[in-house]
Amino acid sequence: MIKISLVQFTPHFCAPDDNLKLIASLLQGTETDIIVLPELCTTGYSFLTMEEAQGAAEGPDEKSTRFFKQLAHQHQAMVIAGFVEKHEEKVYNAALVALPNGEVKVYRKTHLFFREKLCFNEGNSGFFVVPHPLKDCNVGIMVCNDWRYPEAARSLALLGADIIACPSNLVTDVWRIGMPARALENKVFVAVANRCGTETREMEDGGTQTLTFTGGSVLYKFTGEPIEQADKTEQRVITLEIDPLLTRDKYFTQYNDLLNDRRPEFYLT
Ligand code: ACM
Repeated sequence: MIKISLVQFTPHFCAPDDNLKLIASLLQGTETDIIVLPELCTTGYSFLTMEEAQGAAEGPDEKSTRFFKQLAHQHQAMVIAGFVEKHEEKVYNAALVALPNGEVKVYRKTHLFFREKLCFNEGNSGFFVVPHPLKDCNVGIMVCNDWRYPEAARSLALLGADIIACPSNLVTDVWRIGMPARALENKVFVAVANRCGTETREMEDGGTQTLTFTGGSVLYKFTGEPIEQADKTEQRVITLEIDPLLTRDKYFTQYNDLLNDRRPEFYLT
C-alpha cells in the first residue's frame, strides 16, 4: 500500500517565495509517500512571452529544486511539482521529480497548450517512469494538456507505470471526461493535481486575459472511477492510501489483457 497526496491551491503569479511557503504550510503534518503538486506551481501560469517565462525560469540548483528536494527528504516522499525550467538558453514548462534519496529528474511538457506555445520550448524529455525508492510503485509523469493525447498515458503504461501523476493548470472541464478514460484504458491510477483561482493579465494590445482554473483535483482508480475529488475552489491536500500492485495484471476479462491484446500493426503513428 502507498499513500499519495494531491495538493490544490492558488499560486500567486511570479511570487515563488509566497508559493513555496504556502506549499510547505499546506503539507505540514502530512504523512505520505507521493506528493503531487500543480503545473507551474511555483510561479503561476499566465506568462505572455518567452522573455517573461525566461525571467521566472530556474536551473537545477536554484530555489525551487532545493525546496522540493528538502520537501522530499522531510516527508520521505517522491515529490512531483510543476515549475519553469531553464536549460541551455531554453525554457520549459516542466515537472520536477524529487526523490527522498536526493535524486532529481525533470519531465518537460510534451504537448503545449494555447499561449504556452509562445512562452515555452516544446518538451524534449520524452515520457518516463520513476520507481519509488522506498516502495514497490512506479510513477509516470505527464503534465496537464498531455491528457488529450492518449499516446502519452499509453506510453507511460507500456513503460510500467502504476500511477500517472499529472500536475495540471486546467481551464476547461472537458478533462473530467478524458482523464478517467486514461485511467480505465491503461488500468492505472491517475492523480490530477489541479490549481484553483483566477489570473488576469494586461495584454500588449491593451486588452486583458483572464483565466479561471477549474480545481477539482482528483485521484482516479484504474477503473476510471474518482476515489476522492476536491471542489473547484478549495485549497487543500487530499491524501489517500492505494494499492499500486492492483494495476500490474492488465486482464479485464478472463480472455483479455489490455496491453497484450494491442494490435500495433494496425495503428498509425
Ligand atoms: C494546460 O495544459 N495547462 C491546459
